[in-house]
Amino acid sequence: MKIAPSILSADFAELKTEVKRVENAPYLHIDIMDGQFVDNLTFGPNVVKALRPHSSQVFDCHLMVINPEKYIKAFAQAGADIIGVHIEATAHIHRVLSQIKQAGVKAEVVINPGTPVAAIKEVLPLVDQVLVMTVDPGFGGQAFLSETVSKVKELAQLRLQAGLQFEIEVDGGVNADTIKTVTAAGADVAVAGSFVFGSDDPAKQVALLKELAQG
Ligand code: DX5
Ligand code: ZN
Repeated sequence: MKIAPSILSADFAELKTEVKRVENAPYLHIDIMDGQFVDNLTFGPNVVKALRPHSSQVFDCHLMVINPEKYIKAFAQAGADIIGVHIEATAHIHRVLSQIKQAGVKAEVVINPGTPVAAIKEVLPLVDQVLVMTVDPGFGGQAFLSETVSKVKELAQLRLQAGLQFEIEVDGGVNADTIKTVTAAGADVAVAGSFVFGSDDPAKQVALLKELAQG
C-alpha cells in the first residue's frame, strides 16, 4: 500500500516544512478545489510549482474543478506526476484523459460516492489510476463512507478480468481503522489528510498506516 499524505490538512503557513515532514511517503496528494465543483478553495498550479523543488515524491494532483480541461497544461508544467479529474466535472472525460497523457502525465479518473463504477468503464483502458472517493469531496476530516468499499472490489475484479494495469486509490476518512478495510478491498494507494497532519509526528502516522496495511 502506498500512502499519499494530503496537504489539505497541513499548516499552509509552513507548507515547505510540512512536505518535508512526510517525505517517508512515496506520494504527495495535492487537492485542487475551485469553489464551484466543491464548496472550498485551495491551491492553483503556482503552489504545485513552488513545492516541486522541495520534494521528489510523486505529486498526485486531485482536481476538484469544473471543466478541468482548462487547467491540464498548467498543472503538467507545474510538475504534476498524476492528474486526477472527476467524471462528474466534465462532459468530455475521454478528451481530458487523453490531454493529460499527451502532456506526459499519468491520467486518473475520479468517482464521487454517488457515482457507480459503470460510469467510467469505457475509459478504464485509458487510465493509469482510478480514485474512488470514500467521502464527498470538499473537506478534510470527514467520516469514511463504508458503502464505497464495494466499488474498490468491483474495480479490482474488472482490472483482473480485462487484464488492465491501473492502480486503485481511495481518498477520505482513511485512518488506523479504515486502512485495513481499503487494503482488503484491493486499494493500492491510500490518501490520508487529517490522520497524518493532525498529529505532532506526521511521518510516524504514515509509517503506522503502512504497517497496518501490511497486516
Ligand atoms: C477531500 C479531499 C481529501 C482530503 C482527505 O475532498 O479530496 O484528499 O484531504 O482528508 P481526510 O484524510 O482528512 O479525510
Ligand atoms: Zn483528494
